[in-house]
Amino acid sequence: MADRPLTPRPPWEGRRVVLGVTGGIAAYKAVQVARDLTRLGARVDTVLTESVRAFVAPLSFEGVTGREAHTELLAGEGRALHIGLGQEADLILVAPATADFVARAAQGRSDDLLGTTLLVTRAPVLLAPAMNDRMYGHTQSQRNLEHCRDVLGYRLAGPGVGPLAAGEGAGPGRMLEPEALVDHAGRILGADSRLEGRRILVTAGPTWEPLDPVRYLGNRSSGRMGFALAREAWLRGGDVVLVAGPSELPDPVGVRTVRIRTAREMFREVEAHIPEADVTIFAAAVSDFRPREVRSQKTKKGPGVSGPGPIELIENPDIALETVGLKRDGAVVVGFALETEKLRERALEKLRDKDFDFIVANDPGEEGAGFEVETNRVLILDRQGEEERLPLLRKDIVAGAILDRAASRLSQVDVRSGS
Ligand code: C5P
Repeated sequence: MADRPLTPRPPWEGRRVVLGVTGGIAAYKAVQVARDLTRLGARVDTVLTESVRAFVAPLSFEGVTGREAHTELLAGEGRALHIGLGQEADLILVAPATADFVARAAQGRSDDLLGTTLLVTRAPVLLAPAMNDRMYGHTQSQRNLEHCRDVLGYRLAGPGVGPLAAGEGAGPGRMLEPEALVDHAGRILGADSRLEGRRILVTAGPTWEPLDPVRYLGNRSSGRMGFALAREAWLRGGDVVLVAGPSELPDPVGVRTVRIRTAREMFREVEAHIPEADVTIFAAAVSDFRPREVRSQKTKKGPGVSGPGPIELIENPDIALETVGLKRDGAVVVGFALETEKLRERALEKLRDKDFDFIVANDPGEEGAGFEVETNRVLILDRQGEEERLPLLRKDIVAGAILDRAASRLSQVDVRSGS
């Protein structure tokens, strides 16, 4: 029987989040944010402003967090809640943050529990603005948000563009979806100082090489490994560009995703971004060949048609090989090798030939590894001759292990170059 992938402990275990919820229609989505953060291990204390209680009840939050939801500035039992919550927090997330709340936060008002908590805390504060598009566009709201961001150092997640409350149409002002907010919170809770603010370039997915207007040569890559790397890199604080071939996966939150189809398009994007990257990870399964000619009409079958004829293939550029020379001094470059035989030997050749700092090798024939699955079992080989074989793991965990290694390599290089 194949061994089961290891599941990690919840990532935010032991972390304390204060979730402030203020009076807008998007408040119902805050219940899911509270639930998801709790499921990820965080201890979530909810603070509700008075106006939000018309939209959603404290009990909803208590049900999903297993903790009392706070509403009063001066609670009973002699507890200095207005001080304690802010002091103990690792993160304060306000979702939704209404126009009125943002105005009060910008002024530093302390006439409710959320206000005092914000003044007391020295933890990062993340606001998820949610308001009507006209209110959002008003100069005063913009000024208040700028003040929160530029003077108070609060971070802003959104707002997004999309349908607003019923009858209000669509526009900028919509609160980001709970999953995206949880990712924004995760980027603060999980920041890795070695990767924070670093530029990270990832290639992912297959490439499609056109034969005619409707057919292409491609491969079975789903893009999962590369997308997981881009997402994890952003969650650790990186500034991430993902150059992705055709993949059904959605753009990862926060990641600048550039969609391309062919190897040559991927080449041009990598060429443009690699000179600035601190870490580049070549996770794409690039087609090695492409048809010499792209037929202008669909190739037909049937009577009177001479048949498809031979297809002549020519080599695509090797993106990693041909762009690695453009990387900045000290940048870390990681490659992948997918081999069905002589895995170790071929991976070592590629490590040398393509000048990677380390290479991640896997065999798609092994159960649970390779394309189209959620897990991977990899062997990591580096230039110093070290080897690490990881067990069968979820791709996001494999991505974390790869980024850990890239981050320590980056800090070793930094120490040596004295930067
Ligand atoms: O295809 P191959 O096994 O040589 O791929 C090894 C590494 O080189 C992978 O990291 C892959 O993303 C990269 N590569 C590339 N351009 C190609 C072929 C491979 O960047 N044309």
